[in-house]
Amino acid sequence: MPRPRTAWRCAQCGHVEPRWAGRCSACGEYGSLVEEAVEKSTASSRVPATVRPVHLSEVETAAEGRLPTGVGEFDRVLGGGLVKGSVVLLGGEPGIGKSTLLLQVVDALALSGVRVLYVCGEESPAQVRMRADRLGCTGEIDLLPATAVESVERATLDARTDVLVIDSIQTMTDEGAPGSAGSVGQVRAATARLTRVAKDHGVTTLLVGHVTKEGAIAGPRVLEHMVDTVLYFEGDAEHAFRIVRAVKNRFGPVSEVGVFEMGEHGLEQVANPSAALLEHRPASVAGSAVMSAMEGSRPVLVEIQALVSPSYLQMPRRLATGVDPQRLLQVLAVLERRAKVAFGQYDVYVSVAGGMRIAEPAVDLPLALALASARKDIALPASLASFGEIGLAGEVRPVPHAEARAAEAGRLGLTRVLTGPSRRHDGGTTVIEVATLAEAVASVCT
Ligand code: TYD
Ligand code: MG
Repeated sequence: MPRPRTAWRCAQCGHVEPRWAGRCSACGEYGSLVEEAVEKSTASSRVPATVRPVHLSEVETAAEGRLPTGVGEFDRVLGGGLVKGSVVLLGGEPGIGKSTLLLQVVDALALSGVRVLYVCGEESPAQVRMRADRLGCTGEIDLLPATAVESVERATLDARTDVLVIDSIQTMTDEGAPGSAGSVGQVRAATARLTRVAKDHGVTTLLVGHVTKEGAIAGPRVLEHMVDTVLYFEGDAEHAFRIVRAVKNRFGPVSEVGVFEMGEHGLEQVANPSAALLEHRPASVAGSAVMSAMEGSRPVLVEIQALVSPSYLQMPRRLATGVDPQRLLQVLAVLERRAKVAFGQYDVYVSVAGGMRIAEPAVDLPLALALASARKDIALPASLASFGEIGLAGEVRPVPHAEARAAEAGRLGLTRVLTGPSRRHDGGTTVIEVATLAEAVASVCT
């Protein structure tokens, strides 16, 4: 009998090597290759059935039945609720709140008469019950302590389940697939099988996926293309704020976010993130600047803080939390050269309040203003918000959604907005457009 053909797949990036190696040649990870069977392709021997094209205009539009979950911030990320028969992957680090969120979501669904099956492969039903009590869940949720995907499939069909939760996909095993639970082969096979059940029987499926510290869904990014929607939980366990972000959505916009706060009784929706994030802002302290940032399609005000103190080190310290350290270095250099604010003999610390992470270039101007304010020990006007990218020549560049950002500042009572030149003006608040960083610093920090 011929030996079954095998290949080696990287658990980190999904790259396939024909033979074993100590290190993945694609992502450089050590010891991540796992063996899996190669399915023989039978495509060449099969005569393809005749398939006729259809006119686009004649294709029936399936009115996608959306199921609002009742958790508004979750619905918002999904683009208006769960689509029937869709498969949603919720990724995030252990302890971030994935199980909590999904239990809250399915409880709300169960209360509205939806048949829910919660597969707890990771915890015992007693543990889930304890969490449910803490959250005050009262819906009829069926728990299934199982790890075999076959049993899950059978139970789902028997119970005529509408919404299925798998917590987590890494605990699922498929008899027919190679490898142990959590390996790439197993996770992929289990996902493929659950996806087929979802599509064939219209079972809306929510998969929990643990993310390793490197940021990939453990065992695999390879799941991302198999599912309809991929959501990631962001934030860290030490801060109360949690953000759920859509990174892929076949049925809605991506980069939309839902904002939550972890409390005593589970995740609470933060309907007004700007107000929540500015709540503990110190009054007239040097080194604090308000940025009007964009989270998906929504403007959110965040506080950028800077601390500048004399350094006793040969290489002064530069520490950034919540913003890219490279960005900090660049903004410091531009401030020094173009706006004549020097930091040579000073340690510099920067952070975004509330544990938020800001990746967009519009952070440059508020970051620079916080730094200049800290260095000069002059508080910025309390009513000021800003946003704008800074070029190496010291010019302030326009960024998208200027109007929405200015309007959000106005809504929160900040009456002055500093930004780069734009083509349009906002009605409500005074928008000060500056061409250069030097001008910006001179106008609010002298
Ligand atoms: P959990 O949902 O179990 O995280 P995950 O499934 O992503 O691993 O919950 C994570 C943390 O949240 C846990 O450390 C305890 C905390 N927590 C609260 O603070 N309040 C609550 O009401 C609950 C249920 C959990
Ligand atoms: Mg969990």
